[in-house]
Amino acid sequence: KRLILIGPPGSGKGTQSPVIKDEYCLCHLATGDMLRAAVAAKTPLGIKAKEAMDKGELVSDDLVVGIIDEALKKPSCQKGYILDGFPRTVVQAEKLDEVFQNRGTKVDKVLNFAIDDAILEERITGRWIHPASGRSYHTKFAPPKVPGIDDVTGEPLIQRKDDTAAVLKSRLESFHRQTEPVIDYYAKKNMVVNLPAEEPPQTVTSEVKKALS
Ligand code: AP5
Ligand code: ZN
Repeated sequence: KRLILIGPPGSGKGTQSPVIKDEYCLCHLATGDMLRAAVAAKTPLGIKAKEAMDKGELVSDDLVVGIIDEALKKPSCQKGYILDGFPRTVVQAEKLDEVFQNRGTKVDKVLNFAIDDAILEERITGRWIHPASGRSYHTKFAPPKVPGIDDVTGEPLIQRKDDTAAVLKSRLESFHRQTEPVIDYYAKKNMVVNLPAEEPPQTVTSEVKKALS
C-alpha cells in the first residue's frame, strides 16, 4: 500500500503511523521527523530548515521534495509506504505526481485526519516524544509508564520546540492556508478517506483498517 496522511498538527498522524506500518509492513516517511533529525545533527539541510520550523512555518517545497525523493529510493520502501506530513502544499503534490510518473507508480489512498482546531492545543501542549524512534506520548491521553521516560528504551522523553500554544497558532494557519487545498486536490481524484480524528486512538485505528481493507 502507498498512503498519504494529511491532518493538522496534533490530529494523530504520528500516533496512527506505527500501527499502520506494522499491520501492512510499510515504511514510515515523516518529513517532520526527518527535518527534526537534520536540525539536531546540524546538517546543511537542518540549518536551512530550522528557522521556519521554529516559527511554525513550512520549509521550502524544494527542500522537502528532495528529502522525499531520496527516501523513496530506499530498498525498504519499495513494497509500500506511509507519507506522514507530505505533501503539504499543492506544489509538493504536483511534484510528487511527477516523481511517481517517472517511476511508473502511484499513491493508493489519502487518509484525511478530520478534526476541529479547538481540540488541538491540549493534544499539542501535552505531547512528549522519544526523538530517536519518533514515538509520542501524552501526559493525559497516552502517558508513559514512568513519567518522562520512553517505555521501550528507558531513554528520556522531550517536548518539541514548536509544541507551544503560540507556535501552534501559526502551524494551524499554515495548515488551513497551504495544506487544506491539498485535500481538495486529492478529493478531485477520488482518493480521500475522511477519518474521525477526534475519537479515541483505538477508534481511529479501526476506521483506518476499514478504509484499507
Ligand atoms: P510535523 O512534524 O509534520 O508536525 P505537524 O504536521 O504539525 O504534526 P504533528 O506531528 O504535530 O501532529 P500529529 O498528527 O503527528 O500528532 P500526534 O499523532 O503526535 O512538522 C513539523 C514542522 O516541519 C512543520 O511545522 C514544518 O515547519 C516542517 N515540515 C514538515 N513537513 C513539511 C512539508 N511537507 N513541507 C514543508 N514543511 C514541512 O498526536 C499529538 C498528541 O496527541 C500526542 O501526544 C498523542 O499521544 C495525542 N493523540 C493522538 N491521537 C489522539 C487521539 N485520538 N485522542 C487523544 N489523544 C491523541
Ligand atoms: Zn507527527
